[in-house]
Amino acid sequence: MKLADRMSRIGTESAFEVLSKARALEKQGKHIIHLEIGQPDFPTPAHVREAGKRAIDEGWTGYGPTAGFPDFREAIAGYISRTRGIPVAGENVVVVPGGKPIMFFTMMAVVEPGDEVIYPNPGFPIYESVINFLDAVPVPMPLVESRGFSFDLDLLESKLSPRTKMVVLNSPANPTGGVIPREDLRRIADLLRDRDVLVLSDEIYSRIYYEDEPTSITQFDGMLEKTIILDGFSKTYSMTGWRLGYGVMPVSLAKAVDLLMVNSNSCTASFTQRAGLAALEGPQECVNEMVREFRRRRDAIVTGLNAIPGFRCSVPAGAFYAFPNVTGTGLPAGDLADLLMNEAGVACLSGTAFGSYGEGYLRFSYANSLENIAEALERIRKVSERWAAVGRAG
Ligand SMILES: Cc1ncc(COP(=O)(O)O)c(C=O)c1O
Repeated sequence: MKLADRMSRIGTESAFEVLSKARALEKQGKHIIHLEIGQPDFPTPAHVREAGKRAIDEGWTGYGPTAGFPDFREAIAGYISRTRGIPVAGENVVVVPGGKPIMFFTMMAVVEPGDEVIYPNPGFPIYESVINFLDAVPVPMPLVESRGFSFDLDLLESKLSPRTKMVVLNSPANPTGGVIPREDLRRIADLLRDRDVLVLSDEIYSRIYYEDEPTSITQFDGMLEKTIILDGFSKTYSMTGWRLGYGVMPVSLAKAVDLLMVNSNSCTASFTQRAGLAALEGPQECVNEMVREFRRRRDAIVTGLNAIPGFRCSVPAGAFYAFPNVTGTGLPAGDLADLLMNEAGVACLSGTAFGSYGEGYLRFSYANSLENIAEALERIRKVSERWAAVGRAG
C-alpha cells in the first residue's frame, strides 16, 4: 500500500509508545511505576458519571448538532467569560471530541503550505506534527528554564516574520509545568496586536495551578479577535476517555471548524456533552481537591528529584508534570529514560519526546499516588549510583 506523501510528514505522541513498552515489560513480570502518562489518576467525579449514565437512559444517544448542543455551547461560553473575564457567546464555541482536534481543525482551517507557525519546544508534540503535515514551516521557540520555561521574548520578536501565520502558546504547559507570567503575555500581545497572525492558546491545564491563576492572552486589548482558546474536560474533570473538548474562537473560524466536524465526526457524543454540562454547572470542590492532592505530590517529587545526583528540578507552577534538568548525569535523556524503565522499573518520558530542545530533561507525570512516587524516587536513587560513580571517576 502506498500512503499519500503527506503521511511521511505526520508525527506522533511517544507517550503512547512508552506506555505500550511498559505494558510489555509488565507482561514479562516486571513491576513498573507509571510516571509517563498525562492523565489524572482520579475517577471522573461521581455527579458527572451519574449525569452521563442518566443521559444514556434518557436517550441522548443519537446525533446532535455538529458544533455541539446550543445549551452546552452557551454554558461553555459563560464559563469562559467568567474564568477569563472576557465576553464570548455560544456562537464562538465549537465542541469537539477532546482538546486535540482543536489543534488539527484550526490549523487545517487557516494555515497554508509555506506559512510559518511558532510553537513552544519542548512542547506538546502534536503542534509540530500538524504544522509539518500541512506543509507549513515549523518555527520552534526554545523554552528557557531560568525563566520558568517561558519564551525569550526578544528571540520571539526576532522570529516573527511576514510569513508568520500563527503563534501557539501553552500555559500551564506540558511538559514543563511552566505558567507564562502575565507580564510576558502582555509583551507578547504587544508584539502580535498589529500583525496578521492568530494565536492558538492551549489552556487545557487552566484549572491546575499552584501559584497565581494563569492569565489568558485574550485578556489583553485586541487579542480576543485573533485568538483560539483550546480547553476541555480531560484534565480538569478527569475525563480523558470521554473525549470532550472545545475551542473558543471568532465566529468565522468557528463556522469553518464546524464544517470540518461535519466532514469528520458529524458531532461529539451526545451523552458525553450532557455529562460535560453537569461538570460545568455542578459543584467544583472535586477540582479543588484534585489540585490540592497534585500539590502534595508536586512538592514530594520535586524535593525527591533534587536529591538525586545529576538532577536539578525547578518547582512547576501548574499542570502535573515535573521536568528535571538531567544534564548532570552525563547521559542523553533518551538513554536515561530507557535505563530508568529497564533497570529501575520507572516509566517516564525523555524531554526529546517533546522536541529537540527537550534534550537534557525528563518528564515525570505525578498523576500517581504519593506512595508510588516515593517508591519511584527510591528506585531512581538506587540506580543513580551508576552515573554518580562514573561522574566521580570522571
Ligand atoms: C498541552 C495539551 N493540550 C492538549 C491535550 C489534549 O487533550 P485531550 O485529551 O482533551 O485531547 C493535552 C493532552 O495531553 C495536552 O497535554
